[in-house]
Amino acid sequence: MIESLKQPIPETERKKKTALVTGASSGMGKAAAAALADQGYQVIMLCRNKERGEAALKDLQKVKERDLWLMLCNLGNMKDIRRFTDEFKVYFEQLEVLVNNAGVISLERRETDDGVEEQFVVNHIGHFLLTLRLLDRMKPGSRIVIVASGAHKVGRIHFDDYNLTRGFNVIKAYSQSKLANILFARELAERLRNRGITVNCCHPGAVATSLGINRDTGFGRRVMELLKPFFITPEIGASTAVYLATSPDVARVTGKYFYRCWMTKTSKAAKSKKAARKLFELSEKITDERL
Ligand SMILES: NC(=O)c1ccc[n+]([C@@H]2O[C@H](COP(=O)([O-])OP(=O)(O)OC[C@H]3O[C@@H](n4cnc5c(N)ncnc54)[C@H](OP(=O)(O)O)[C@@H]3O)[C@@H](O)[C@H]2O)c1
Repeated sequence: MIESLKQPIPETERKKKTALVTGASSGMGKAAAAALADQGYQVIMLCRNKERGEAALKDLQKVKERDLWLMLCNLGNMKDIRRFTDEFKVYFEQLEVLVNNAGVISLERRETDDGVEEQFVVNHIGHFLLTLRLLDRMKPGSRIVIVASGAHKVGRIHFDDYNLTRGFNVIKAYSQSKLANILFARELAERLRNRGITVNCCHPGAVATSLGINRDTGFGRRVMELLKPFFITPEIGASTAVYLATSPDVARVTGKYFYRCWMTKTSKAAKSKKAARKLFELSEKITDERL
């Protein structure tokens, strides 16, 4: 259900465009939600944790004009994503902007309830399922933005062991998931070309956020505090995703990778059409969802 509202808005009263931002409880997701609301969008903040989601919502609502809604969903759980998308469709007839931003990085190998490695699931598979299930709410002109990372450059998709049961390390896992973001953006862009829905992805830069900080123990927070002066703010970090979601400059651009609002090059592995198709088919198999 929508945490921040008891009654759905009748579609006849709908005046604004709708944007959904994943991982809006902190960092760049929160900054992107604020920026989109400031541009007049009705913004749904997808958060996994009720307390953190409510705290972020309350903070962003300090600016009264912002039209923000909080909905809960764990992108590491396919059943929960199906529940979320079903509920979303009860409330919202259309979706003009989808920002796939939520992400995790973890030193330890963990599996989700669905039995898949956590970073691959949260950063890619969960968003794959979410996106495919929301496509019927997207019309020509709608935009999908995927927050990837420069870390994709050291990644490869381990098709024979995407769960990384052998030789796990954080770089291998995170870079695999971020390469998956770019391959997914390219393949989906091709498959949606005839429907007029654009799909682009970006690297936000080195940004001072809560990424990598353990939510329970706070482990990693001190390191981030020390690095903060060298990192850009979440608002600046989110600006490329917001640009891709809203700027008329990129209304017809699709399947591209951006950094600092400029189209830029990816790694060779991220250009492979064969790998993009293979990953799409693997993701369909894992999620049991087809385009
Ligand atoms: N920070 C950087 O330097 C950097 C660089 C390149 C790319 N990126 C990418 O930027 C994106 C945003 O990260 P950030 O830096 O803003 O980090 P962040 O502050 O840690 O934000 C991550 C967000 O994702 C949410 N999230 C994590 N697991 C989730 C799940 N299972 N279901 C739903 N939401 C979940 C978190 O929710 P909770 O609050 O509940 O944990 C949080 O809202 C990520 O995709 C990351 O890979 C970041």
